[in-house]
Amino acid sequence: MNIIKVKDPVAGGIAAFGIIKEAIAAGAKTLGLATGSTPETLYRAMVESDLDFSNITAFNLDEYVGLSKDNSQSYYYFMQEHLFKYKKFKQHFIENGLVGDLEAEAAAYEAKLQAHPIDVQILGIGLNGHIGFNEPKTSFASLTHVTNLTESTINANKRFFERVEDVPTKALTMGIKSIMRSKQIILLAYGAAKAPIIKKLLEGPVSEDVPASVLQKHPQVTVIIDEAAASLL
Ligand code: PGA
Repeated sequence: MNIIKVKDPVAGGIAAFGIIKEAIAAGAKTLGLATGSTPETLYRAMVESDLDFSNITAFNLDEYVGLSKDNSQSYYYFMQEHLFKYKKFKQHFIENGLVGDLEAEAAAYEAKLQAHPIDVQILGIGLNGHIGFNEPKTSFASLTHVTNLTESTINANKRFFERVEDVPTKALTMGIKSIMRSKQIILLAYGAAKAPIIKKLLEGPVSEDVPASVLQKHPQVTVIIDEAAASLL
């Protein structure tokens, strides 16, 4: 894995944007996008650039079950607010967590992904090593699926909700195998709280207990971290 150390999240967003820009210049047509606080600076760099995304198809990693598009905590809403309100894309796909048949939604999403191979996938990382909402012990062979969120993830997310009961407990997520099919992957992490999981990602055994560790087996991964996230390496 390539490691790029940056001084802060703004520099990290600019570094990630540079890789995306190069990939698009080389013919990339499909981006995989992530939500969470980490990729915000990347989306700012994209919004502030004059790069044209109107020929680019975008997929999001995951979406909560039970939140509508206009709920300010839905990932659909997050993407509108941070990127799509400012930049026109050819098309954008995100799972729909409001449908009755979630299994059918997951299968349909996976089929769309397979029809549009991802050139560059952006990832954050959870404190427990999740990528997308692939929580520890998710099979490395997983495709897009419905998942129960772990206690650790629900706790990490509750800062965004008024009451802990409002935090969704289920999500739809691209699987580990869906993510690993991407031609290129950029994982972003900032801050001291992420230092222990970054050490496991880069130096630990490859294990389903740490979903992100699977990236050690991918041929083209760039990990962009600040000093604090790198402090245990
Ligand atoms: P964060 O979330 O960017 O808000 O830290 C990352 C993740 O859980 O994937």
